[in-house]
Amino acid sequence: MYDLIIIGGGPGGYAAAISAGQAGLKTALIEKKYLGGTCLNVGCIPTKLLLGYTEPIENIKHLKRLRLGDGQFSPDIKSIIKRKNNIINATQKSIAQSLKKLGVEVYTDKAFFINPQTIKLATSNKELLFKHAIIATGSKSTALPGTSFNGQTILSSTDILNLETIPSSLAIIGAGAIGLELGQFFSRLGTRIILIEALNHPAPLEDQDIGQEIQKHLKKEGWELYFQTRVEQITTTNNQVHIDLGFKTIQVEKCLLAIGRSPNTQELNLENCEINLDTRFIPVNEYLQVTKNIFAIGDVNGKIMLAHAAEDQGRYVVKFITQKITTPYFPRIIPSCIYGFPEVMSVGKKEKELKDYQVTKALLAANPIAQAHGVSSGFVKVIWQNNKVVGISAVGYKVSHLVTLATIIVSQGWTKETTHNYIFAHPTLDESLKEALLA
Ligand code: FAD
Ligand code: NAI
Repeated sequence: MYDLIIIGGGPGGYAAAISAGQAGLKTALIEKKYLGGTCLNVGCIPTKLLLGYTEPIENIKHLKRLRLGDGQFSPDIKSIIKRKNNIINATQKSIAQSLKKLGVEVYTDKAFFINPQTIKLATSNKELLFKHAIIATGSKSTALPGTSFNGQTILSSTDILNLETIPSSLAIIGAGAIGLELGQFFSRLGTRIILIEALNHPAPLEDQDIGQEIQKHLKKEGWELYFQTRVEQITTTNNQVHIDLGFKTIQVEKCLLAIGRSPNTQELNLENCEINLDTRFIPVNEYLQVTKNIFAIGDVNGKIMLAHAAEDQGRYVVKFITQKITTPYFPRIIPSCIYGFPEVMSVGKKEKELKDYQVTKALLAANPIAQAHGVSSGFVKVIWQNNKVVGISAVGYKVSHLVTLATIIVSQGWTKETTHNYIFAHPTLDESLKEALLA
C-alpha cells in the first residue's frame, strides 16, 4: 500500500513526488512516456532552447537596424535540434536520479483507476493500492473540429519541434503563447509567417496595450497578420496546406495549430472512482481534491496551464496530505511570461479585469539596458487599487527578468512608499519597474 501514487511525471507530478519523498511518504510515480512531461520534452524547455539558440539573429538584426553591424549569422537547424534533444535527455536522467535518491518508485507504464483505492498499470497488469492519489496527467494539443494533425503539414507544437528543414511558409492558427514563441523561432530562420487569431490582438489574454505593442513588432518583422479571423477549414493537397478564412484562402507549406490544449482524462477510467466528468477538465475543490483521497493538479484541472503552477500545486497537495497546511489553495498569485521578442510578463490583476483602478507606466525607451541592446520599445505598467499595487505587466526587451520582483511586489501589495525602502541597482532593467512604481 502506497501513501501516495502520482499519475504523470510532468512538472506537477514530479514536484509532488519529490516533496512526498522528502516528507518520507511511501510514494510511486507512474509515467507512460517521458519524465519531465510536456514541459521538459515538448513544451517550456525545448521552446526556450530554440529561442535562446536563435536569439543572436534577433540581436544582430537590431544592431543592423542601428547601422552598427552587417546583420550576418547562419544558424544550423540540425545542430540546434540535436543540442536541444541532448539537453532534454540529460535532464530526464537527472529527474530520474533525484526521484531514486528520495526512494520514489517510478513505473514506466500507463495508469488507470480500478476503484478509489487501486490503480492498474496497463502493460504490466500490476495493481497498486494507494491511500492518496494525484492525477497529474497534463494536456495535449487541440486540433480544429474536422481537422487532425498529420505530422507532415498540419502540425501540433510537438510535431514542429523536431523539423530539421526550415519551411518556406508557416501559417500559425492561434496567437497565444505557443503561436507567438514558435512563430518567432521560425521567423528568425527566415520562414514567412502568417498568423491567424480569432480575437482582436496577439496574446489576447493580456491587456490590449500589450497586444498592440507585440503587433507593432510582428508587423515590422513582416508577419502577415489576421485578427478577428476564425479558421473554419484546413485541407491539404500535394503537400500544400489550404486555409479557408472565409474571405480568402491562404496556401502554405506547413500549418501549426496552436489553439489551446485539452486535458488528458480519457484513459484514466475515472468512472471507477465515481468521478463523472461533465466538464473538459477534472473539477477540483479549493484544496485541489477531486474526491476525499484523489487530487488533480496542473493542466488536467484547467485552473492555469503553466509549469510553475503545476509544480506549486503538486507541492501544496503533499503539504495538505501531510497536514502541514490546512488552508485552501486559492487565491494564488501566479506569474506568467511569453518569450521571444518582445517578451511579455504579467502578475496579478490586469486592466481588463478591473473597473476602479489607476495605472502608472514607464517606457523602456528611457532604460539604459534596453538602449544598450538597441531595443528600447515597450513599457512596464503598474496597476493600483486603493494606493496599493494589484498588478504589474510589461512588454519589451527581456522583461521576463522582472517577473519575480513583480510577483513579490504584487504579493506584498506595495505602496509608492515601499519602493523608497529598496535600492535598485543602476543601470538595470529593474529600474524601469521602479520608474513605473514611482511614476
Ligand atoms: P504535463 O507536463 O503535460 O505532464 C503530464 C504527464 O502525464 C505526461 O508526461 C504524460 O505522458 C503523463 N500521462 C498522461 N496520462 C498518463 C497515464 N494514464 N498514465 C501515466 N502517465 C500519464 N509553461 C510555462 O510555465 N512556461 C513555458 O514557457 C511554457 N512553454 C510551453 C511551450 C509549449 C510548446 C507547450 C505545449 C506548453 C508550454 N507550457 C509552458 C505549459 C507547460 O508545459 C504545462 O503547463 C506543464 O507541462 C503542465 O504540467 P503537468 O505536470 O500538469 O502536465
Ligand atoms: P492559448 O489559449 O494561449 O492561445 C490559443 C489562441 O488561439 C487564443 O488566442 C484563441 O483565441 C485562438 N484560437 C482558438 N481557436 C481559434 C480558431 N479557430 N481560429 C483562430 N484562432 C483561434 O493556447 P496555446 O498558445 O495553444 O498554449 C496552450 C497553453 O500552453 C497555454 O495555457 C499557455 O499558457 C501555455 N504556454 C505557456 C507558455 C509560456 O508560459 N511562455 C508558452 C507556450 C504555452
